[in-house]
Amino acid sequence: MQLRKVLLGLVTLTSVVSSAAVARRDEGGGKLERALSLEARDEPEDTKYFREDSELTGHYDARFFSEVVDYDTRLDTLKHMVRAWLLAAAREGIETWIAHGTLLGWWWNGQILPWDGDLDVQMSADTLTMIGDKYNMTRHKYVSEDGLVEREYILDVNPWIWQRVRGDGMNVIDARWVDVRNGLYIDITGIAETQPDSMPSILNCKNYHRYHVNDIWPLRDTTFEGVPAKIPYSFDEILITEYRSKALVVTEYEGHRWNTKNKTWDLASDVPAGAEAEQLNNRVREPERYYSVESGGFFYNIFRLLHWW
Ligand SMILES: *[C@@H]1O[C@H](CO)[C@@H](O)[C@H](O)[C@H]1NC(C)=O
Ligand SMILES: *[C@@H]1O[C@H](CO)[C@@H](O)[C@H](O)[C@H]1NC(C)=O
Repeated sequence: MQLRKVLLGLVTLTSVVSSAAVARRDEGGGKLERALSLEARDEPEDTKYFREDSELTGHYDARFFSEVVDYDTRLDTLKHMVRAWLLAAAREGIETWIAHGTLLGWWWNGQILPWDGDLDVQMSADTLTMIGDKYNMTRHKYVSEDGLVEREYILDVNPWIWQRVRGDGMNVIDARWVDVRNGLYIDITGIAETQPDSMPSILNCKNYHRYHVNDIWPLRDTTFEGVPAKIPYSFDEILITEYRSKALVVTEYEGHRWNTKNKTWDLASDVPAGAEAEQLNNRVREPERYYSVESGGFFYNIFRLLHWW
């Protein structure tokens, strides 16, 4: 018991000392933080290529944005936009496949998820270099199959495509296919083998998504929004890694409910969306947080040891 008292005293003393140290660190840290935030504020101005307003419900390219479009206009824009991209890419021999939320939409019914603000496709870094050389800032006219819809898109390639690591995080999107009427777009990202020596056959995009070559190729042929499209070979594993298996079974999401009969995601006013849905999600996900609980540091652990002693 004596020993315990001595140890407790020691812990009290060290925690006083360490909290003083913490206070001092804070003072110094304030300056460092200010310097860092200054730097962080400067950097985007210097390097960021694509400008968008992601505060808005959809994602818009700043150059072509005039106003936030309504639900139907957004869906109509995105559906024709992805058809136009897939058709143009096939025509020009640009190898591309659908990815992320767009791939998830394909999994459900071969269509975009109606709550998505933008779309995602991928390509190899070699193809990316090729479109940078050959198609940068090219405009592409599109007429829908029934001849009723005419659109125009611009293919804009980020000059930072040569950099295949994340860098400052300002240029993780490599190219964009933009509807020039309203600025909605498809994000195009390249994947490349960045560490051929230590991680051969492993491909990364600049936003830390990682794939094995054999998960992507050979690409599978399918249709998306009614036009020919390609998807990664291991689309199921990729989806589960990225969204967990829950995303493949949940039938109420972001203000929509899965209509089993029609195989469509229908608007449902009773299904939570936005911040409300996020809160619900967090509550469901809570137990997973235990994996990321901080160890608490050395003194905290000594204290816990004493506590149980
Ligand atoms: C594409 O064109 C824009 C506008 O001219 C330019 O700023 C950008 O650097 C170009 N991208 C590439 C990959 O050359
Ligand atoms: C399926 O879609 C049709 C046409 O849009 C609609 O009339 C019908 O009510 C839908 N069925 C269900 C079960 O929602």
